[in-house]
Amino acid sequence: MLKIEELVSLKPYNTFGIDVKADYFITLRDEEDVRRLLRESYLRSNRFFILGGGSNILFVGDYRGIVIHPDMRGIEVIAEDENHIEVKVAAGEDWDSFVAYAVQQGWGGIENLSGIPGQVGSAPIQNIGAYGVEVKDTLLAVEGYMLDNQEFFRLNNFDCEFGYRTSIFKTKLSGRFLITAVVFRFTRRNHTYNLSYQGLSRAVQNEGDVNLQNIRKAVLLTRETKLPDPRKIGNAGSFFKNPVVGQGKAYLLKAEYPEMPLFESEKGKYKLSAAWLIEQCGWKGYRKNDVGVYEKQALVLVNYGSASGEEVLELASNIQQSVHQKFDIELEMEVNIVA
Ligand code: FAD
Ligand code: EPU
Repeated sequence: MLKIEELVSLKPYNTFGIDVKADYFITLRDEEDVRRLLRESYLRSNRFFILGGGSNILFVGDYRGIVIHPDMRGIEVIAEDENHIEVKVAAGEDWDSFVAYAVQQGWGGIENLSGIPGQVGSAPIQNIGAYGVEVKDTLLAVEGYMLDNQEFFRLNNFDCEFGYRTSIFKTKLSGRFLITAVVFRFTRRNHTYNLSYQGLSRAVQNEGDVNLQNIRKAVLLTRETKLPDPRKIGNAGSFFKNPVVGQGKAYLLKAEYPEMPLFESEKGKYKLSAAWLIEQCGWKGYRKNDVGVYEKQALVLVNYGSASGEEVLELASNIQQSVHQKFDIELEMEVNIVA
């Protein structure tokens, strides 16, 4: 039997700490629950939303429909040789606990992604990234079900159409595919460490030798100084994506603002710092009632206690308008808005 709960508070299930309710809440405890869900007609007759760890969403009201919460667990080695190991991880596993486990096992490839909240099953959705690494770099395949026809699919890395903070699961398959497991390929020796992010190399040296454990430690320490802990201050990490612009626009802005951070991106494009743009518009540290812009990172919108989703969204929209007016740049939201 599937466990279906009614009128469930979603406050403990979203890191913004927005106090809303779902009409129905289904927890998927194992593969059998997934198959039960697919057999039933619930998803054809109700609107539904898949909720992982709730660390990249903003609820702007009660959810009138079914919230599906994957909680399937399991880490399985499916292939290995001297140099590499392939591991299949169930969607409901906690991402950072898995990173800690991988590092402890001596599996290389995701140590830079330490400290990111959420579940393993959500990691491919926006192709999580930090400190020069993205999940696509070690991801072999994504497994799950098309919810339109209940068919099982295994999408390989190429099929996932990964890009900066995007994938096919945010575009063509948005809301149509339930991820049940992710398959990774890690190094077991001769690891390729990525210390390209400014300051990371030094932070690792402060820990001692360059190895998986010390990279994880350095990344966790760096994150602590920049990002608010959702257990203390509600937030969903970067609220906006960093804008990617063509060379012309990048050079024009750089001429006008020589101190502006500018990073080379793919195919002759340039990535601007959304945090810098927002800071220049005077928003850093802003607060109105319980909603604000984090004082140490202008890209992070925060809920100091009882802010509503609407209030956060209004602030986001005001920020977008002022960045547009000052720089003629459209900030795109990274956080998923759920109404
Ligand atoms: P949710 O917020 O629950 O869901 C996100 C989206 O994925 C929703 O659209 C949801 O419907 C969909 N989804 C979730 N699970 C499934 C599934 N099994 N099948 C299909 N769809 C699904 N992100 C980064 O990339 N880099 C960072 O450095 C980073 N730092 C962060 C720091 C903080 C303090 C916080 C709060 C967030 C940060 N994030 C970062 C954002 C967030 O942690 C990631 O996007 C994470 O992958 C979201 O996982 P989640 O389980 O919480 O997903
Ligand atoms: N900066 C400012 N003002 C600020 C903060 C930063 O001007 O308030 C400038 C910094 O000086 C630096 C630049 O912005 O030159 C970049 O800052 P930072 O390294 O902190 O990274 P970010 O671009 O703001 C991105 C990701 C983060 C990820 C970090 C580390 C996006 C949207 N955000 O932030 O991901 O952890 O890099 O790699 O790409 C997330 O997606 O939720 C997230 C937290």
